[in-house]
Amino acid sequence: MDSVWYDGDAVGFLDQRALPRAVSRERATTVDDVVEAIRTLAVRGAPAIGIFGAYGVALAARIHAGDRAGYEAAAARIRAARPTAVNLAWAVDRVLAVPTGDELTEASRIHEEQRDVDRRIADASVELFPPSGNVLTHCNTGPIATGGDGTALGCFIAAHRAGKALHVFVDETRPLLQGARLTMFELHEGGVPCTLIVDSAAAITMQRKSIRAVVVGADRIARNGDTANKIGTYGVAIAAAHHGIPFYVAAPRSTFDFTLESGAGIPIEERSPDEVRIAPDDAVFNPAFDVTPGRLVTGFITEYGVLAPPYADAIADLEHRPRIPLPVA
Ligand code: MRU
Repeated sequence: MDSVWYDGDAVGFLDQRALPRAVSRERATTVDDVVEAIRTLAVRGAPAIGIFGAYGVALAARIHAGDRAGYEAAAARIRAARPTAVNLAWAVDRVLAVPTGDELTEASRIHEEQRDVDRRIADASVELFPPSGNVLTHCNTGPIATGGDGTALGCFIAAHRAGKALHVFVDETRPLLQGARLTMFELHEGGVPCTLIVDSAAAITMQRKSIRAVVVGADRIARNGDTANKIGTYGVAIAAAHHGIPFYVAAPRSTFDFTLESGAGIPIEERSPDEVRIAPDDAVFNPAFDVTPGRLVTGFITEYGVLAPPYADAIADLEHRPRIPLPVA
């Protein structure tokens, strides 16, 4: 199920807000539509918003043909639509850097590369899983979140297809329920056995259900391995460390921010109190992401293989690796 695509004079997207109730395909025909779809999480997941943003910039190039200043202002608005996932800024900058007329080709290339990258991430992960057992994840990292086969969820689906009898415990992922609404939906689609838990049940699930591995995605990874991901990931990582369970982050190179030495510099999006509060006057702190210290991460599953500590060296090495070539058609 494609989550984003280019559609003549619009950017198409699967409205993730409607899932799993309805499969609703929409079209963004203006830059405002593109920004709104990203802000409201109609399109979400770090790689997917990167691809959608890239197509959005191609749309802006068409709308602002002959008006470079208008085009760049539109691209800047798309780039700023959400702050934490570095994939958005990375993809917008890639499209901005190409000669006039090549924007859509570059956006399509980013999309095609993600499909290839996701397959490589899944391939790199299969050996990490036992032949059978329980695993756990947080948030949603499947095909709809990446525009390809998924990252962490793509690993589970690939392991399942390779004959491993994995059972996935899925954190519901408060407050917007990406786990309950999207991950459960995608695991059912992939035929992977799964069980939904509330976020606060993650620790007892590790204690009582013999969890063999935790795999999550990421929105931005600093040079020391500090990892921003959906709020709640940090607590899951602490619980995994307490129980001696390996905690993996599956993410493409485009999610690494080589300009940041540590997670302290990662901008954390704070979202509306209305997503959380029950009583109208309650004060609310609603960070959409948290930062898991790199020392709690057992390994990063990337398209270049699994990175092991010390991450300062492994991530410095990743920075200088050549871009993975596209598969031969
Ligand atoms: O706010 P969201 O739903 O966009 O947050 C998404 C996540 O935190 C994902 O885990 C991350 O983007 C990786 S998606 C492959």
